[in-house]
Amino acid sequence: MVKICCLGAGYVGGPTMAIIALKCPAIEVVVVDISAARIAAWNSDQLPIYEPGLDEVVKSCRGKNLFFSSDVEKHVLEADIIFVSVNTPTKTRGLGAGKAADLTYWESAARMIADVSKSDKIVVEKSTVPVKTAEAIEKILTHNTKGINFQILSNPEFLAEGTAIQDLLNPDRVLIGGRQSPEGQKAVEALKAVYANWVPEDRIIATNLWSAELSKLAANAVLAQRISSVNAMSALCEATGADVTEVAYAVGKDSRIGPKFLNASVGFGGSCFQKDILNLIYICECNGLMEVANYWKGVIKINDYQKSRFVNRVVASMFNTVSGKKIAVLGFAFKKDTGDTRETPAIDVCKGLLGDKANISIYDPQVTEDQIQRDLSMNKFDWDHPPHLQPMSPSAIKQVSVVWDAYEATKDAHGVCILTEWDEFKTLDYQKIYDNMQKPAFIFDGRNIVDMEKLRKIGFIVYSIGKPLDPWVKDLPASA
Ligand code: NAD
Ligand code: UDX
Repeated sequence: MVKICCLGAGYVGGPTMAIIALKCPAIEVVVVDISAARIAAWNSDQLPIYEPGLDEVVKSCRGKNLFFSSDVEKHVLEADIIFVSVNTPTKTRGLGAGKAADLTYWESAARMIADVSKSDKIVVEKSTVPVKTAEAIEKILTHNTKGINFQILSNPEFLAEGTAIQDLLNPDRVLIGGRQSPEGQKAVEALKAVYANWVPEDRIIATNLWSAELSKLAANAVLAQRISSVNAMSALCEATGADVTEVAYAVGKDSRIGPKFLNASVGFGGSCFQKDILNLIYICECNGLMEVANYWKGVIKINDYQKSRFVNRVVASMFNTVSGKKIAVLGFAFKKDTGDTRETPAIDVCKGLLGDKANISIYDPQVTEDQIQRDLSMNKFDWDHPPHLQPMSPSAIKQVSVVWDAYEATKDAHGVCILTEWDEFKTLDYQKIYDNMQKPAFIFDGRNIVDMEKLRKIGFIVYSIGKPLDPWVKDLPASA
C-alpha cells in the first residue's frame, strides 16, 4: 500500500487529501498538523472548515484510508509521498516585508523531513511558493548526509474555496513539475499515477519545476487581473451611465475572453490573490524587472481603490457622515459558501466605516463573532508601506455588534452594505427590512445581487457597483 502523508491540515491539505483518499482506496492518506486543535476538529463532527460536500467525503473515508494525526514525525517516517501544504503568508517584517512569501513554515517542515526520514521519499510542494523554492528545499533535504534520495515535485493546487470539492473531483488540470533527470521523471510518473485514479490523462500536465511553481502565481495573477479590470470599468460605468453587467456580458461573449471572473465587486479577497501577486511582484523586483512589477502592482492598487471607493460612496451618499448611524453589514466572508475571512474586503470596508464613526451590525451565516472581532482588531498591514501599521482603536471595536440574523442587523439601520454574495441575501424580505429601517433607507450592494428596481419601488435608495446611479447617490469628490 502506498502511503501518503500531508503536512498541513488547512483549507488545501484537508480537502485535497480527502479526495485522494476517496478516489484511491489502495492508498493510505494521513494528514498531520502542528496544531493539535485543528487535528482534533478534523477527527470530530465539526470540521475546522466549512466547505460544501466536504463532510460527506470525510465521513466516508475517515478511519478507513484517511486519518488525521498530530504525530507528525511518525507519519513522515512511514510515508512514500509527502505533500507539504503549510501556510506561506506574506512576510510582515524584515527583508521583503509586505511582499515576499514567508517560508518559515515550509523550511521547518523540510528540516523535519530531512531529520526524520530513513527511506527515499517524494516531497511534493502543494503550498503556493515563490519560483525556485524547490531548489532551496532540495538543498535542505539533500544535506541530510544519510544517503536518502529525495525527489522534489511541484504540484500547485488550483481549488477555489466554496467549490473545493467540485474543483478537486473535476479539475481543469493537474500540474506536476519535476526535475528532468530519470529519477525526477520517475517521481513525476508516480504522482501522475495517483491522480490518474480519477483525472483524465490529458488533464495531467507535466512541466519542469520552475514552470509549475511560476504557473500557480501566474494563474492567480491573471484571475485577479480580470477582476481588477472589470472593477476599474465599474468606476467608469458609474461616471458615464453605462452598466457594468452589460459591459462585462458583452466583453465576455468574445470567445477569446470568456464569461467567467468578470463580476464587478467591492474587491477581491481571500488568502491567495493579494499574497500571490505580492509574491510575484517581489520576484520581479529581485530580478530587476521593475516595469513588470509595477504592472502587477496596478492590479492590487485597483483592488484597494475599489474598496475605498465603496466606503466613500456610502459616506458621501449618507449626507457625508455616518457618525453615530447604524449601518448593517450583510456578509463578512471573502466570498459565499465559505467561513474564511482572510483578506476579505469586508475588513477594509468595515474599518473605513468605523473610521467615520459608524455603528456597524454584522451578519454572516458562517463567520463567528470571535473571528470578526479578531479581524477588525488586527492591525491593517499596508503592503505598499510596510513600516506603517494602522492600528484599530479599542473604542472602534465597541462600535461593532455581530448578530445571527439579517433582520436583526438591519433593524433601525440607516444603511445596508452587502459585502458577500450569499444566496440567502437575494431572497430576504426587503419590504420588512425597509419597514424597520430609518428613512431615507439606503442599500449599497457590493456584489450586485439585489434587484435594484424592486428595491427602489419599495422606497430604498440603491447603489450597486458599476450601475447607473440613483439620483440620491452622491458623486464622489474627484480626489476620492
Ligand atoms: P491554512 O493556514 O489553512 O493551513 C496550513 C496549515 O499548515 C495550518 O493548519 C498550520 O498549522 C499547518 N502547518 C504549518 N507548519 C506546519 C508544519 N511544519 N507541519 C505541519 N503542519 C504545519 O492554509 P491553506 O489555505 O490550506 O493554504 C496552504 C497553502 O496552499 C498556501 O501556500 C496557500 O497559498 C496555498 N493555496 C491555498 C488555497 C486556498 O484556497 N486556501 C488554494 C490554493 C493554494
Ligand atoms: C483563488 C483561485 O480562484 C484558485 O484557483 C486558487 O487556487 C486560490 O485562489 P479563492 O480565493 O478561493 O480561489 O476564490 P475565488 O473564487 O477565486 O475568489 C477570489 C475573490 O475574488 C473573492 O473575493 C471573490 O468574491 C472575488 N471575485 C471572484 C470577484 O470579485 N469577481 C469575480 O468575477 C470572481
